[in-house]
Amino acid sequence: MIDPKSRIDELVELLNRYNYEYYTLNQSSVDDATFDNLMEELMLLEKKYPEFKHKISPSNRVGGQVVDAFKKVTHKRQMLSLADAFNYDELLDFDRKVREVLGVAKVEYMAELKIDGLAMSIDYVDGKLNYCATRGDGIVGEDVTSNVITINSIPLQIKVSQGLEVRGEVYMPKASLAECNEKNALEGRPLFANCRNAAAGSIRNLDSSIAASRKLNAYWYYLPNAKDFNIKKHSDSLDFIESLGFRTNKERRLCDGIEEVLKYIDEYHEKRPNLDYDIDGVVIKVNDLTTYDAIGYTAKTPKWAIAYKFPPEEAKTKLLDITLTVGRTGKITPNAILSPVRVQGSLIQRATLHNEDFIAEKGLKIGDTVIIRKAGDIIPEVVSAIKETRTGSEIDFVMPGVCPVCGEKLTKIDAMHFCTNDNCLARSVEKLIHYASRDAMDIEGMGEKVVEQFFNQGFLTDINSIYELKKYREEIIEIDGWSYKSIDNLIEAIEKSKSNSMEKILFALGIKEVGQKMSKTLSRIYKSIDNLAKATFEELTSIPDVGPVLANSIVEYFKNETNLNMYEKLKEQGVNITYLKEDSIDSNNFFYNKKVVLTGTLENYGRKEAGDILESMGAKVQGSVSKVTDVVIAGKEAGSKLEKAQKLGVRVMNEEEFLTYIKKGEN
Ligand code: IVH
Repeated sequence: MIDPKSRIDELVELLNRYNYEYYTLNQSSVDDATFDNLMEELMLLEKKYPEFKHKISPSNRVGGQVVDAFKKVTHKRQMLSLADAFNYDELLDFDRKVREVLGVAKVEYMAELKIDGLAMSIDYVDGKLNYCATRGDGIVGEDVTSNVITINSIPLQIKVSQGLEVRGEVYMPKASLAECNEKNALEGRPLFANCRNAAAGSIRNLDSSIAASRKLNAYWYYLPNAKDFNIKKHSDSLDFIESLGFRTNKERRLCDGIEEVLKYIDEYHEKRPNLDYDIDGVVIKVNDLTTYDAIGYTAKTPKWAIAYKFPPEEAKTKLLDITLTVGRTGKITPNAILSPVRVQGSLIQRATLHNEDFIAEKGLKIGDTVIIRKAGDIIPEVVSAIKETRTGSEIDFVMPGVCPVCGEKLTKIDAMHFCTNDNCLARSVEKLIHYASRDAMDIEGMGEKVVEQFFNQGFLTDINSIYELKKYREEIIEIDGWSYKSIDNLIEAIEKSKSNSMEKILFALGIKEVGQKMSKTLSRIYKSIDNLAKATFEELTSIPDVGPVLANSIVEYFKNETNLNMYEKLKEQGVNITYLKEDSIDSNNFFYNKKVVLTGTLENYGRKEAGDILESMGAKVQGSVSKVTDVVIAGKEAGSKLEKAQKLGVRVMNEEEFLTYIKKGEN
C-alpha cells in the first residue's frame, strides 16, 4: 500500500498541475469529475493524517478559513508604487530624464496595461508558497494568503528552490463585478463602485469564503529579485515567471523609444472597453534592469518606471428628458434621461442631476447635447451642455410645485425640494427599502427589487407589513423565481431582525436627520426608543452634536400619530427596541470611553470604517481636536489636526499602533 504521506504529496502535485492547466493555460487534461474525486481523496487523507497536510494545500482554495485579523508581514523588499503621468508631455519628460541619466538617444521600454485592482506580493520559499501580502505602507503589509489562494490561477508550488517573490495585481473581472453587484442589489447591499473596490473588499474580508465566491483573478508583472536569477531584462523576467506558472498579461509590448509607447497607449485607449478587466492606464518600464540603480529611486517610487493614467472618459449625448424620483425622506431628485451612449464599456442612460440649482448652474435644457463623464467609477455625471449646438427647440426645466407621485405641494429647504406627505406611495417603497437595508435592519434577501415586487403585489404596504409577510407564503410561491426555500429564508431573516439592537431599528425608522452615527449615539444615551420618544427638545439639544433641526425632527416624529401607531404595533409584533450593545463591549480595551479623532488617510480602513470600529470598542469619535481629546489617530498626510494635537500634548497614534490595539481588542 502506498504510504499516506507520498499519496498526499502526489495528489497535491496532480491537483496543482490540473489547476494550472485549467486556470492559467485554459486547456485541461482531465474532466471535472476526475478532478473532484482527487480533491475529495486529498481532503479525506488530510483529515486522517493532518501531520502530512501541506501548509498551503489545494484543498484550501475553496475558502472557508476565517481569521480574527490579518497578520502583519514585513516585506522582504520595499514594495514601491509608481509616479503618475497625466499627459504625453509628462511622459516625454520622463523619457528625457531617463535618456539624460543613461546618456543614450533612445531607450527600450516595456509597455504594460495598468490593471485596476489591488497590488499584491507573493513569496515562495523552497518552491512552496509562503505568503501573499498587500502593500500596506510599502514596508509592512497584511498577510492575506487565505484569501488570495482562493484564486485558482495562483501557483501554490513552483519549480524553483531559491527564494522568489513576485508582484502583481489581484483584480475582479468586469463580468464578475456585474454578477456581484446584481446579487448585492437583490440582497439590498450597497453596490461596489468599481472593479478595484470590489477586489480590495474581497481580499480584505476576514472570511475567505467571500473571496472564494467572488471570481477574482491576478496578473503578475514584476520580479524584484530578478538579479538573483541572473536576469538582465524586465521582458525576460516576465517570460521567466510565466514559465514558472504565473499568469502574465500578454498585451504587453516592447517599445523601441517613447514614440512607440505613445502609439501603444493610443491603441489600448481604444481597446479598453473591450477588455474583460478594468485598466486605468499604461505602465511604462525601462527594459534594461541593469540600469535601474543608475536611474535611481525616490522614497516611494522608482525613477525607471511611470504610470500613465487615462483621462476620465467623456461622451456626447442628448438630454432627452428630466424625470423626478421621490426618496425615503421625500427628497425630490431630478434625473437626466439620456440617449443611450457607451462610455468605458457600459451603456449610460441616466445620471443624477442632484437638485434644481445643479441644473441651473450648468444651464441645462431638455433637448441639449451634453457631455457626460465616467471617471473610473460606475456612476456617470453630466459635465456640461454644448450650448453652441442649440436649435432653439430646447426646453427649460421647471421644478414642479407638487410631488410627481402624490400631488402634495413641495417644500424647498436650501437647494432641495421635499414632498412632505408621509403617505406618499413613492416614499413608502423607499422607506421599506431603507428599513430592510444592511446598515438598517439588515434583512437578507429583501433588497430593492424584492421590496418593489411585493409592494406592487400588495404584500408590503408599510413597515409593520414586513412582519406579516409570512401570511402571503403560498401566494409568493406562485411568483416566478420564488421557492419555498427562498421565501422561508426570507421569513427567517425577517424574524431574526426582531432581535436587532436599538441603533439599527432607530436608523431603520428613517427619522429625518437621524443617520447611522446619530442612531448609535442616541441609543447609547437613551437605551430604548421608549425613552427617546419621551425626550424633550431642550433635553435633546443639550447633547453634544444634536442641533435644533435634529432635535425638532425627533420630537415631531414621535408626536405624529401614524408614526406612533406604527411604532406601538412594531412592539406588539415583537421587535426589540432596546439597546443591547453596551454589555458586549469589553471595557478593558484601550479605546473604551476614550475620545478619539481620526485624521489623514489610513491605508487599511476608510475613515467611516475606522470610526465604526472605534465606536464598536466604546470610543467616542470626534470631529475636532481639543483639550478633552484622548487620542488622535494620524494616517498619511495628516495636517492641522495633528499639529493641534501635538501643541495640546494629546497622544498621537499612527496606523500601525491603531491596528495593534484593534487586534488586542478583538482578543
Ligand atoms: S509595476 C516597481 N506594473 O499600479 C514596480 N504596476 O500606480 C511597481 N499596477 O502599485 C509596480 N498594473 O498596484 C506595475 N503592469 C503593472 C501594473 C501595476 C497595475 C498597479 C500597481 C502599482 C500601481 C501604481
